[in-house]
Amino acid sequence: MADWLAALDRRAELRAKAGLTRTLRPRVAGDAVVDLAGNDYLGLATHPEVTAAAARALSAYGLGATGSRLVRGSTDVHHALEDALADWLGADRALVFSSGYLANLAAVRGLVRPRTLLVSDAHNHASLIDGCRISGAETVVTPHADVAAVAAALAAAPGRPAVVVTESVFSVDGDLAPLAELHAVARRHGALLLVDDAHALGVTGPAGAGGVAAAGLAGEPDVVITATLSKALGGAGGVVAGPAEFVRHLVETGRTFIFDTAPPPAVAAGVLAAVRLARAGDALRAELADRAALAVRRLGAAGLAVSAPDAAVVSVTAPGPEAATAWAADCRDRGVAVGCFRPPSTPDSRSRLRLTISAGVARQDFERALDVIVECAP
Ligand SMILES: Cc1ncc(COP(=O)(O)O)c(C=O)c1O
Repeated sequence: MADWLAALDRRAELRAKAGLTRTLRPRVAGDAVVDLAGNDYLGLATHPEVTAAAARALSAYGLGATGSRLVRGSTDVHHALEDALADWLGADRALVFSSGYLANLAAVRGLVRPRTLLVSDAHNHASLIDGCRISGAETVVTPHADVAAVAAALAAAPGRPAVVVTESVFSVDGDLAPLAELHAVARRHGALLLVDDAHALGVTGPAGAGGVAAAGLAGEPDVVITATLSKALGGAGGVVAGPAEFVRHLVETGRTFIFDTAPPPAVAAGVLAAVRLARAGDALRAELADRAALAVRRLGAAGLAVSAPDAAVVSVTAPGPEAATAWAADCRDRGVAVGCFRPPSTPDSRSRLRLTISAGVARQDFERALDVIVECAP
């Protein structure tokens, strides 16, 4: 075997020994698995109005966008989606990207000026971390949800431009960032606040407008929001929302916007339909909150260590990476898909099962899935 392939094999063996093997498993359409692993929080990925809107755009525009947004890829559907997202989020303008990952890379980099200090929460998603890295700016990583540490980091850099970077609902444990406090501290130091609302959009806030809106910060001139369109909106793509001047800056300089083919118009049309449904989805959000509370009660009563969920993500601690893998596999064998998070995908050394609650799953299936998780616990 070629040297480089043998070296890769050795690294794979080390990962296997540490219980960190990752494998792909094809999902077939309409399988009978109870899904507590996906991010289709509101069940909109398969909603008939969403798929019909996508199908209409598919036949009108064809499969792909045929070019980047600045060339031929910017359809009227993309613009309508951006207007709808800006209106929902209470932002001046919104800009759609082909993924949340790319939106985060562009947003962080776009906020950086010479001498900018980035202050990034230790539990931030990989796309925010990579955004900080790619921006080349000095980055201080502060302990999770620690407002005092953020204040100290800002105070230690007087006179420098700074950006506080956080998620609203953290993807691993589902807890909520102290956004109002972070904003107050940032404003006191003349810093900006960048919030990734990926797991909050559609799930929290007035009419599902997300964590920034829930904290009363929508439309603030020193706040920029990013989100993915792939979770509660059931589609694909990402968005950056904020002041018009910042969006213009990204259109003209954002590398992951400029040098990337636009998201397919059919996906944009489906997401546009999903935005309308999500805004009207208070009953679905109430059901999510109810199920999250039920999960905590049932799993807690069985002696499992469960996170206190602020949205629709619940995490359950596993004794270690191998135990987490075996637990998730046993659940899968019994027809329940759960997320399995192990280092390095966890921000600390804890392995966990991650349960993402979807209103698209029948209530009785959800309750049965909780029993399965308890019965398979290590
Ligand atoms: C918090 C957070 N931000 C960003 C992303 C990336 O979004 P996308 O999948 O659209 O690239 C994800 C996960 O998908 C996420 O969990």
